[in-house]
Amino acid sequence: MGSNGFKMDTMKKITAPLILLLIFLPFARSLGTPLSFFVGDRRVKSLSLKELKKAAPIKDVRLEYHFSKSRVKNYRGVELAPLLRRVFPRYLKGDEYSEIIYEATDGYSSFSTLSMALTKGGLIAFKDLDRKGDNWEPTGREMASPAPYFLVWAGKDQTSTVGYPWPYALVKIRLVRFKDRYPKLFPTGKPPNSPERRGLRVFKEQCFRCHAIDREGGKIGPDLAAPRHILDYRTETFIRQFIKNPESFRYSKMPSHAHLSGKEMDDLMAYLKSRRVRP
Ligand code: HEC
Repeated sequence: MGSNGFKMDTMKKITAPLILLLIFLPFARSLGTPLSFFVGDRRVKSLSLKELKKAAPIKDVRLEYHFSKSRVKNYRGVELAPLLRRVFPRYLKGDEYSEIIYEATDGYSSFSTLSMALTKGGLIAFKDLDRKGDNWEPTGREMASPAPYFLVWAGKDQTSTVGYPWPYALVKIRLVRFKDRYPKLFPTGKPPNSPERRGLRVFKEQCFRCHAIDREGGKIGPDLAAPRHILDYRTETFIRQFIKNPESFRYSKMPSHAHLSGKEMDDLMAYLKSRRVRP
C-alpha cells in the first residue's frame, strides 16, 4: 500500500508539468525565439516574433548578388532601421552610443556602427521564402541554419567587407558606447571639446576603417600605435605631409587627405600623441 501511494505521488508530480508542457509547447513555438535588445549590459526589450512583426514594416527582399553566383535568395523580414528607431529612441539622439553588436545563438558577435545600421537596406529576416514553413536554407561557411533571425542587406554594395555585417542565428542586438567597444582608442579624461577628443572624431571618420591603435581598428594600413608608436620613428612633419598627400612620397594605397583643414590636422596630431600607450 505504502509503496503504491508513493508511486501515485510521483506520477502526479511528473504528469502535471508534462501536461502543462504539452499545452504550452505549440504556443511557445508560435511565439518564436525572441529577439532581445540591450544597452550595454542592460536588457531594454525582448520581442517575440509576433511582436517583432508589429514593431517595424515587414518587407520581402530578393537578393541576387550576395551569395554564390546565380544563387538568388528570397527572405521576408522586418526593416532594421525603423526597428532600431523604435527600440532605442532615446539613445539615437546623442553620439555616445555609436556601436552595435549582433550576437548569435552560439555567442558569435559581429559589429557595425549605429549609423551604418540606420542606413536603408537592412532587414531582419524571419522567413526563408524559398523554403516551406519554418525551414531555412543553410548558410555561411559552416552551412548553419540562419534561424531564428538573419540580418541581410538589400543593397548590392552592402557587403560585410564595407561594414555591413550579415549575422545569422541572430538573437541579441546590443548598443554600446564607442569607448567601451574600443577602450584603447578613447582619450580618457579629456573633455569632449578638447583637441584630443576632436582628433578622435577625425580619426574615427577618416582613418579608423584602415588603421588600428594598438590592434583596435582597421587592418588595411599599419597600426599607428603599437608595437611602436608612429611618432617614435616618423617626424610629425612627415606624418602631416604624408596624410595630406601619400602619393608624393610613394605610390600608395592610402588615399590622399588634402581636404583636412589645418585645425583638423592639429587635432589629429594631438589625438595621435595621446595614443602613445607605451613609454
Ligand atoms: C583606405 C585606407 C586608408 C585610410 C582611410 C587611411 N590610410 Fe593611412 N595608410 C593606408 C595604407 C594602406 C598605408 C600603408 C601604405 C603606405 O604607407 O603607403 C597607410 C600609411 C599611413 C601612414 C604612413 C606610415 C609609415 O610609417 O609610412 C600614416 C602616418 C597614415 N597612414 C596615417 C593615416 C591617417 C592619420 C589617416 C586618416 C586621416 C589615414 N592614414 C587614412 C591606408 C589608409
